[in-house]
Amino acid sequence: MVDHLLSIDDVADDFAVILRWAIALKQDTEFSEDFKPLDGMSIGSIYEKPSTRTRVSFETGIHKLGGQPLTLLKGDIQLGKSETIADTAQVLSRYLDALTYRCFAHSDVEELAEHSEVPVINALSDKHHPCQAAADFMTMMEKDPEFKKTRVAWVGDGNNVLHDLMLGCSILGVDCTWAVPEGFEPDEDVVAKAMEIAEASGAELRQTHDPEDAVSGATIIYTDVFVSMGEEDQVDKMTAFDGFQVNMELLESADDNWSFMHCLPAHRGDEVSDEVMDHKQSIVFEQAENRMWAQMSLLTYLCDMGAWETWAEFLEI
Ligand code: CP
Ligand code: NVA
Repeated sequence: MVDHLLSIDDVADDFAVILRWAIALKQDTEFSEDFKPLDGMSIGSIYEKPSTRTRVSFETGIHKLGGQPLTLLKGDIQLGKSETIADTAQVLSRYLDALTYRCFAHSDVEELAEHSEVPVINALSDKHHPCQAAADFMTMMEKDPEFKKTRVAWVGDGNNVLHDLMLGCSILGVDCTWAVPEGFEPDEDVVAKAMEIAEASGAELRQTHDPEDAVSGATIIYTDVFVSMGEEDQVDKMTAFDGFQVNMELLESADDNWSFMHCLPAHRGDEVSDEVMDHKQSIVFEQAENRMWAQMSLLTYLCDMGAWETWAEFLEI
């Protein structure tokens, strides 16, 4: 059976090693320059929504690993016009060694994976953004390798990025509190899954409607846009987020060593103030860079399990 990455718990058992491998690739450039596990492979990436980070980090990361990246914009391919997802999956599996897919409905990436004979990576759906979570926890691990002091606070919408953030916390045993306005809670099935995983790891997961309560004592303060791609007609939604901006006043409740995180793109002045975005404790651009290293690690893991032996030797695990 082919392994896919649709949400971050799909790689739960090896998540910590995947993150360590991503950091090793970033730090040891002498090693990573010669590491070409995708040599001779072609990886296709389908986009139904715009992207800066995901597209560029996948293209450059695949190239660095010796593979050929192919970006397939929805307007240029038959998908959704004259061809079904299932047929597209079967055709592309004949040419390609893996597929990434940025789509609207999460059920679409599930359907692509169901009919694909090569690994499918969710490059953002309305429900999950696992590649973002991999980069986020890599960035946290760079600061606190065993997550001993890490306490995560989310302030904002109960959206796709929060879903994989809470799943990642549950896998790694990191405490996480999310503050969301009433009516904008994360999906119950994702919360239930995260709570179940957290029972084994010991992570404390908690929901509140009070941003100050979530931020109190936290070391990582994370937010995202209030209106996600595909929700542009829900402009009224913005009014529910009064008091949910991450600004210097809110951060007074956080741990003194707080770091600010955002998946980007940021809507400055809405969910975050300029002062916080540009603060020396803002690590948003490290996060953005780490998309590439984290995805290189995930691609190696999903496309060349033989490389596992190399990892084990390199990391002494
Ligand atoms: N964070 C993220 O996925 O960014 P893009 O939409 O630019 O890919
Ligand atoms: N929640 C945002 C994330 C963008 C990277 C969206 O889905 O638009």
